[in-house]
Amino acid sequence: MWRSAFLYLSTNAPVQHLATKSRVARKISSRFIAGDTLPEAVAATKALNSKGLTVELDFLGESVTDREQAEAARDTYLAMLDGISAGQADSQVSLKPSQMGQALSDELCYDNIEQVVLKAEGLGNFVWVDIEESPTIDRTIALFKKLRARHSNVGIALQSYLHRTRKDAQEVISMGGTIRLVKGAYQEPPEVAFPDKKDVDRNFKLLTEMMLSSGPFQAIGTHDEKMIQNAIDYAQAHNISKERFEFQMLYGVRRDLQERLASDGYNLRLYVPYGDRWYRYFMRRLAERPANVIFILGSVVREAMPIR
Ligand code: FDA
Repeated sequence: MWRSAFLYLSTNAPVQHLATKSRVARKISSRFIAGDTLPEAVAATKALNSKGLTVELDFLGESVTDREQAEAARDTYLAMLDGISAGQADSQVSLKPSQMGQALSDELCYDNIEQVVLKAEGLGNFVWVDIEESPTIDRTIALFKKLRARHSNVGIALQSYLHRTRKDAQEVISMGGTIRLVKGAYQEPPEVAFPDKKDVDRNFKLLTEMMLSSGPFQAIGTHDEKMIQNAIDYAQAHNISKERFEFQMLYGVRRDLQERLASDGYNLRLYVPYGDRWYRYFMRRLAERPANVIFILGSVVREAMPIR
């Protein structure tokens, strides 16, 4: 119920308007967001790199409904790739089809993303395609397959909460594709997604094992220690070396676990978002963990009643 309420609010325009004007909300969201600008994001990346963590940068923004915004987002990603290279930061990039104009046309979206992938190819970099709400997935998978048939420097996120994901994962793997497995962050009906967390987790384990047994490099995106331990145990039992996969986590979430895995010699990549369109991303982070809201309420009260 808590999760549904926050996911509902994440798409509510009046609440978004209020929250994005709130100084306190912005300050608190900075736990999960690396700054407003590319130089801030590159600086955050380099700080993480110095701790042995790699990064995938995300420019916040989604559900774009006009062509200019989609092209501006594409240009931001092109500049981001230059900024990563110029700053000698160890970072890939991650983007959302809905930010690249998917709601306007598949061709526009494909062209925008392919330009980013081509630029990354020239720089020896890699592009992740995020996965969004279930009605967009057929088109996102088709887009990914077309991209992957032409470029090897692109991977796709898939969600273990969807019934369909096993089939999608098999298809991506059979193309030699790289997957970032996540549980899924949106509100979905039971016809398409497992309503019960234990089924989401069971599917996550099954998909992890399928991915680790496949040839291509794979990514396990979770903060759930049980899922992580399952991947580690499976890899050890099947002699799958640490170089064949990486764990991925979100900036600001379970920093203790991030550092522990990195110091145990596992590849650890952080998804680092930046930009001023942080509201929806931030609300999804609140939906994932009620304790975040208690932390926020505490900060609001502290700000309202400063201790002298
Ligand atoms: P789960 O939600 O079961 O949480 C396990 C534990 O992790 C919690 O008990 C808590 O300790 C900690 N935790 C989780 N979330 C937290 C938070 N917000 N704050 C503090 N602690 C938290 N989704 C999607 O639909 N499309 C996508 O493209 C992506 N991309 C993506 C990239 C990367 C690198 C990650 C890690 C995640 C995504 N996600 C995503 C989000 C994903 O679907 C999922 O919502 C979150 O990762 C939370 O799920 P967990 O696997 O961490 O497990």
